[in-house]
Amino acid sequence: MSSIIIYGSHYGTTEKYAKELSKRINVKAISYEEVKDINDYDTIIYLGGLYAGGVLGMSKTLKKLNEISNKNIIIITVGLADPTDEINVNNIRNNIKNLISREILKKARIFHLRGGIDYSKLNFAHKTMMKLLYSAVKKLPKEKLTGENKAIIETYNKKVNFVDFSSLDNIIDKIQVGLL
Ligand SMILES: Cc1cc2nc3c(=O)[nH]c(=O)nc-3n(C[C@H](O)[C@H](O)[C@H](O)COP(=O)(O)O)c2cc1C
Repeated sequence: MSSIIIYGSHYGTTEKYAKELSKRINVKAISYEEVKDINDYDTIIYLGGLYAGGVLGMSKTLKKLNEISNKNIIIITVGLADPTDEINVNNIRNNIKNLISREILKKARIFHLRGGIDYSKLNFAHKTMMKLLYSAVKKLPKEKLTGENKAIIETYNKKVNFVDFSSLDNIIDKIQVGLL
């Protein structure tokens, strides 16, 4: 049985989680931009940063799977919104439904981690997107704000880091069955 960790990360928080996970479970971690044939692996652990509801690199990568019946697929998202908030998790999961095939969705086990953001490091496109998002969210009445909306407002133009490697413990406990 062979396993691989694949990650999609723009600014490094997802990569940090992927590399820590790699160390802890002794499975190689590689960026989705560098991975060759994912069909060679029995277990695929995909970690992706959340970008406007999408999971960076995930659709492109998992589309390459030919036969999934014997595969063990684990998806881990890394975003700014608090993954202990049920509404945030429901939103992320609803988005994922539109990003992967029904077969993969049925098979995959999905987990969520919290990343971070440093506005001074964002590229122009991402800065612009966040500005538009912030302006839209700011106009909403307070009682209508979701946890995700609040996270955008509270962290706007700041540097915040919610990366917490201990949040991998629970995921490792759950995914280790059937690994390697
Ligand atoms: C343009 C943009 C869109 C984002 N969209 C979301 C989102 O939809 N949900 C979320 O929880 N976080 C969102 N984030 C926050 C990122 O998911 C967070 O910064 C994450 O840690 C990024 O991972 P990376 O450092 O590996 O690239 C967004 C950030 C940017 C810059």
